[in-house]
Amino acid sequence: MGKILVTGGTGFIGSHTAVELINAGYEIILVDNFANSDRKILKQLETILGQQPEFTELDLCDEAKVKEFAAAHPEITGVIHFAAYKAVGESVQQPLKYYRNNFYSLINLINAFDSKIDLVFSSSCTVYGQPDKLPVTEDAPVKKAESPYGNTKQIAEEILTETCAVTPSLKVTSLRYFNPVGAHESALIGELPIGVPQNLIPFITQSAIGKRGPITVYGNDYNTPDGSAIRDYIHVVDLAKAHVAAIKRMENGQATSNYEVFNLGTGKGTSVLEIIGAFEKSTGAQLNYTIGARREGDIEQVWGDVTKSAEQLNWKAELDINQMMSSAWAWENYIKDNPF
Ligand code: WQD
Repeated sequence: MGKILVTGGTGFIGSHTAVELINAGYEIILVDNFANSDRKILKQLETILGQQPEFTELDLCDEAKVKEFAAAHPEITGVIHFAAYKAVGESVQQPLKYYRNNFYSLINLINAFDSKIDLVFSSSCTVYGQPDKLPVTEDAPVKKAESPYGNTKQIAEEILTETCAVTPSLKVTSLRYFNPVGAHESALIGELPIGVPQNLIPFITQSAIGKRGPITVYGNDYNTPDGSAIRDYIHVVDLAKAHVAAIKRMENGQATSNYEVFNLGTGKGTSVLEIIGAFEKSTGAQLNYTIGARREGDIEQVWGDVTKSAEQLNWKAELDINQMMSSAWAWENYIKDNPF
């Protein structure tokens, strides 16, 4: 097994995947340009791992630099590509920033390794939009994305499908994440939103710790049991382990084609109000919330069919909603006492 490159390696999912790769015995190298992460994560990883992972600061939009990096690292046989902008709301305001960054980085990466690489691509359940049937399977129709962010995921999957069809040396596994939440058990790494959190869980933990006011529940008039929207929340450590399984599958020649797609969820839907209840129960923290209007672009309910991941990726999520909530809370308390 060769060295694995983790792009966006100091980010939320990238840093957790770095830990699981090392735990699985891989040699890794991380690259990041710190556009949406903090250099201090490297020290945190050193504390968790007892060694600082190899790191190069790199902007994947710089074609020449990426080519130079790949030429200097012939030992790299696999890439896990996280580096991308991912804020739905920001992508609506700045579409060109999202299309440029998310496509230049992907294309530069594949070209720099001359398409001779095993690539794990960070995709999203966003590509499904509001599925007609739940739980949603990987062969469900892809629907027109509600945001440029979601569109970059859909188009990236098309770029990869069409390139793999004519490039046998390029093996790709697209992993469609549902909602990644929680933090490593050490509470030394976790989600580090810059500015006001867009996502539900970081907003909840910041509200609970007194950094933010009450949570606004974006709509309780959906056609769901308690009226609030339903998502498939998955612990970030479970998600990280799925990336190791995907690299292993390609390395061992078990992939049935050179382009495969897997859902990464728990197979279980949880509503916003249920999340609030689970957070209070598992942490003992009191949450204040108000009911507000629906958020533009939100879908009503989605959760994944994870049969294919269990059967072919030999992976399934193991951590439950209480572990997601308590680990997120431990991380929020850690950054309160150790501000980045
Ligand atoms: C979850 C639910 C909100 C905040 C997005 C991307 C997805 C992935 C995860 C990158 C929704 C509700 C939220 C709040 C609320 N991105 N909510 N009050 O929108 O499901 O998914 O982030 O990997 O690709 O699409 O996640 O956490 O923003 O929202 O009621 O203050 O919580 O309406 O129902 P989302 P989210």
